[in-house]
Amino acid sequence: MRNHFQKDFWWGASSSAFQIEGAWDEDGKGMTVADFNSFKKSDKQADTRVASDFYHHYKEDILLMKELGLKTYRFSISWARILPDGDGEINQKGIDFYNDVINFLLAQDIMPFITLYHFDLPYALVEKYNGWEDRKSIYAFEKFSKICFTEFGDRVKNWQVNNEQNLMIRVNERMNMYDVAPEDAERVRAQMDYHMFVAHALSTNACHELIEGGKIGPAVSSTVTYPASNKPMDIWAAKMNDNFKTNYALDMYCYGDYPGYYKEYLTKTGIEPLRQPEDDAILKAAKPDLIALNYYRTLVASYLPETEDNPFGTKFNEIDYDLYGYFKIEKNPHLESSQYGAQIDPMGLRLVLNDYYDRYRLPLIITENGLGTPDTLTEDGKIHDDYRIDYIREHIAACNDAIADGVELIGYCPWAAIDILSSHQGFKKRYGFVYVNREDHDLKDLARIKKDSFYFYQEVIKNNGLTE
Ligand code: BG6
Repeated sequence: MRNHFQKDFWWGASSSAFQIEGAWDEDGKGMTVADFNSFKKSDKQADTRVASDFYHHYKEDILLMKELGLKTYRFSISWARILPDGDGEINQKGIDFYNDVINFLLAQDIMPFITLYHFDLPYALVEKYNGWEDRKSIYAFEKFSKICFTEFGDRVKNWQVNNEQNLMIRVNERMNMYDVAPEDAERVRAQMDYHMFVAHALSTNACHELIEGGKIGPAVSSTVTYPASNKPMDIWAAKMNDNFKTNYALDMYCYGDYPGYYKEYLTKTGIEPLRQPEDDAILKAAKPDLIALNYYRTLVASYLPETEDNPFGTKFNEIDYDLYGYFKIEKNPHLESSQYGAQIDPMGLRLVLNDYYDRYRLPLIITENGLGTPDTLTEDGKIHDDYRIDYIREHIAACNDAIADGVELIGYCPWAAIDILSSHQGFKKRYGFVYVNREDHDLKDLARIKKDSFYFYQEVIKNNGLTE
């Protein structure tokens, strides 16, 4: 196989604070929306209290990353570890922890690639402002961003503002939207989304002002939707599914304005967000340097004419509204599904890389891609995860093809560096190259055990690509 990966390709791996750190209230950290929601499910699965206990194991984990050969580690900072109440006093111990992590990574020649906000809004901001509904959260995030850029920007040059705003906004739990009347939910969602865009822009601008050579961009949940048939309306439905789930957000990040179909949707449904006159200039000035994307699966959509039985409701996740009717998400009979339902499709990755590069001409980096499965620790003390090796191999081959197509792909960071807490399945569903020896309700010894996929990925990195 001919490899097209550039010499300094960012071979990496990813995680996020609430899914890996644990120490949820240690050394002054405040509670987050992610903590709050995970505690509600504590009887059913592991929660954020310990997670993978990276907070106490970070040196061991980073040494494993070094052994794996990682060039970069994509992780997030817990906003509530730095500002326990979201926008007040700085918690110095939080700054110290991330300084330790950053310095230890750099000592191993691993470049930190940091996400500022990965689903874990400080809970205090929900109590004070109902989270993103209030404009004050914009300035809270700007303050938090500036603290991070000032404290860490001398050593950390590459950043993502947030993780998957475009997906987070559609999940009530992530936005802490529990008591909103159904008839008002989409208006509140649109307002929160808009505030997050302004916050994203302010943070982007602050990175450029405060960090010499700083590079920053969004990390989106990418969507590739195939039409269920070649009927023109199915093709339209597939296109609009991508537009409403992801492309409108990428347009906002890159051009500082919603695309026409999205404005029309906001107007037609009477849910236009409130704006301030200064916002336009802020949004337009914020130019991302790169686009990070998470990729797991593809979707299929068919057109569904508007009827009384199909009421508007993106929250149902299956039937989405577009301006010209409805569309319905179907299963792709040509693809295999993972145990948890995601349709596995390496070709979709090649497609989406080409699509985003054609649209925005910005360097791309994959910040998540992986297979969530219940791994088994076998009697020989190992984890034989051939299924993960196959998955990763095929997706790396798709990256290689996309680069040959002309896409400027600068890095690949699979999910996840080590096993992390999965939001819906706790430790029943694992993603890492390193097994963390715990169960949902039994912490065991939290030992780190290298899976077979660890050795596979180590070879890939050593060879700067696949050898066969
Ligand atoms: C991504 C998130 O959308 O999906 C991760 O950024 C998450 O935080 C991943 O872990 C997999 O989802 P889950 O539900 O299996 O944890």
